[in-house]
Amino acid sequence: MLRDEPIRTFKARRRVTAGQAVAIERLLPTYGVDVTAPFDRVAVYARSAPLVLEIGSGMGEATAAMAAADPARDLLAVEVHTPGVGSLLRRIESGGLTNVRVAEADGVEVLQDLIAPGSLDEVRVFFPDPWPKSRHSKRRLVSAAFADLVADRLRPRGRLHVATDAGAYAREALRVLADHPDFEVVSRDRGNRPVTRFEQQALDAGRDAHDIVAVRRPAG
Ligand SMILES: C[S@@+](CC[C@H](N)C(=O)[O-])C[C@H]1O[C@@H](n2cnc3c(N)ncnc32)[C@H](O)[C@@H]1O
Repeated sequence: MLRDEPIRTFKARRRVTAGQAVAIERLLPTYGVDVTAPFDRVAVYARSAPLVLEIGSGMGEATAAMAAADPARDLLAVEVHTPGVGSLLRRIESGGLTNVRVAEADGVEVLQDLIAPGSLDEVRVFFPDPWPKSRHSKRRLVSAAFADLVADRLRPRGRLHVATDAGAYAREALRVLADHPDFEVVSRDRGNRPVTRFEQQALDAGRDAHDIVAVRRPAG
């Protein structure tokens, strides 16, 4: 059970600047999700539409671009890094995006506590913290327990899209998903995923992205 493991997939939070704090205070009531209350998606987005969950949206450039390009679906971005939350909030406002909300929280806890079984259209994990040292590998987000949780929250044929520039992590994630009874790996292509900020840094350093797209098998 993930809940029994106090292991975090992220590092300690960084401080926010005064400007970021002001932006967060102003915009969070409109575009933020209160993770201490039940998640009523129809009330949150003022409609009923397929829901995409992104864990670790970083500074939010790719998140905002994907939401703008996909207006028929709603997007919940979850990020523990406060400056990233502030950055995405400002992008939502400046882009006039009505289909994105942000939760400043641990994505695993959001999946466990806020998301109903079978209710997600897609889960995105783009460039999760790689935790390259073997003694830290338990901190990697994509694990068998994480796959169990995501499989439960996805609708049948819903997608899990993982991308990473860390070769060992990609191999591990591919093995986890290929071996999982509820998932079928259907693609290794990036599809129309934009280049993320972290990915660009990896590309500049000579590392390529590895994408894994798996769908939840229909029950029975
Ligand atoms: C390497 S960055 C990548 C950010 C972005 N996806 C990109 O590609 O530019 C990983 C991000 O995941 C966030 N993160 C790690 N574990 C998380 C978790 N359990 N819940 C929410 N965010 C998490 C980190 O704070 C960080 O911003």
